[in-house]
Amino acid sequence: MSTVLPAQEEATSALDRVRALESEYLLQNYARYPLLLDHGKGCYVYDSAGKRYLDFITGIGVNALGHAHPRLVKVIREQAGRLLHCSNLYFNAYQGPLAERLAKVSGLQRTFFCNSGAESMEGALKMARAHGHKISPDKFEVVALHNSFHGRTLGALSITGQEKYRHDFEPLLPGARFVPPNDETALEQIVNERTAGIVIEWIQGEGGIFPMSIEYVRKARELADRYDALLVFDEIQCGVGRVGKYFAYQLSDPVVLPDVMVAAKPLACGIPLGVIVANDRAAQSIGSGMHGSTFGGGPLACRVALEFMDILDELLPHIDKMGCYFRAKLEELQKQFSFIRQVRGQGLMIGVDLSFPGKQIVLDAMEQGLLMNSTHETVLRFLPPYITTEKEIDRAIAILKRVFKLAAKRGDAHSD
Ligand SMILES: Cc1ncc(COP(=O)(O)O)c(C=O)c1O
Repeated sequence: MSTVLPAQEEATSALDRVRALESEYLLQNYARYPLLLDHGKGCYVYDSAGKRYLDFITGIGVNALGHAHPRLVKVIREQAGRLLHCSNLYFNAYQGPLAERLAKVSGLQRTFFCNSGAESMEGALKMARAHGHKISPDKFEVVALHNSFHGRTLGALSITGQEKYRHDFEPLLPGARFVPPNDETALEQIVNERTAGIVIEWIQGEGGIFPMSIEYVRKARELADRYDALLVFDEIQCGVGRVGKYFAYQLSDPVVLPDVMVAAKPLACGIPLGVIVANDRAAQSIGSGMHGSTFGGGPLACRVALEFMDILDELLPHIDKMGCYFRAKLEELQKQFSFIRQVRGQGLMIGVDLSFPGKQIVLDAMEQGLLMNSTHETVLRFLPPYITTEKEIDRAIAILKRVFKLAAKRGDAHSD
């Protein structure tokens, strides 16, 4: 006779089975939260027992339209039945229109399609190297910022300004030079004729949601022009609508345009897609046969991205409005809980800096049905879907309030 387990027990054993398999057969590089996700709808995901979670991390900023968005489901179904992949040996109908769209919204001219953030950064680094190489063999240095994050491949890692990601893989690419963010004098001292590129995240994401000042980025633009280097903006986390503009650099007025911009995460809402978008000067550095990708720019990913761009056009003001609403509510919480040091961010990219490590808060919130993560040890990171409304934000705030009360009672802020 079979015993019927209650849903939660069944889910726990399903999680245990998956965990056991993974511990035997997967590289042990991820520290996952104990949650087996099954499906999603709108702003919510459901675990294998059917428990509902408000998804305010969206697969680290990827599921921009939440889950199972009807328009995306429709085009994915349709395209899966037509053509999934054809390589870059041939044309497909969607790369050209998507590249045209990206040119219109970015102010840059030419796109290269790839599959992830790190891959787009690799290509941008090759552009900077090739650009420098044309001028002088000594022009190969890339200036990047302390506390930055640009990806896990060797090139991207070489310009990632966080020791903890780099130290196991040294020696990395030669020529990476690091400066503190928002320090114009330090930047001026390090950029010179040997500089091939300057790479900046407008808002450092993994580093704890730290924005760059507009003056700093203007200085970077001026120095890149003075020394004929490429200015590269990493918009992988802060771009493609996340801050209520197409790209975070459009928060500046007049806009500080880069030579090269890389984006990925939300671009095809969960189908892997990354891009390098470059002005003509930077694009000229890559000639025939100098770069490529088997999967990059496949018809499925590009078609989904085009559909997403259509929807995004109308969502931008909403993202800004919801971001203001969420931040205001978090600032109210800050008044009630002295361990909240700062609320930072723009649009729907928000960090809440605590005076103690955020991991337990993340676990408690998960238990209560809210997903976010903690980055840079003490920062709670929220990357809600662009379709979020005040209703979901109120729900998130109510959960956070309960969780913060628990933390205050436990004395988390005084545990060190
Ligand atoms: C700013 C930034 N650059 C690059 C990356 C790397 O992207 P991916 O994980 O898609 O390779 C990330 C990922 O979090 C990121 O936030």
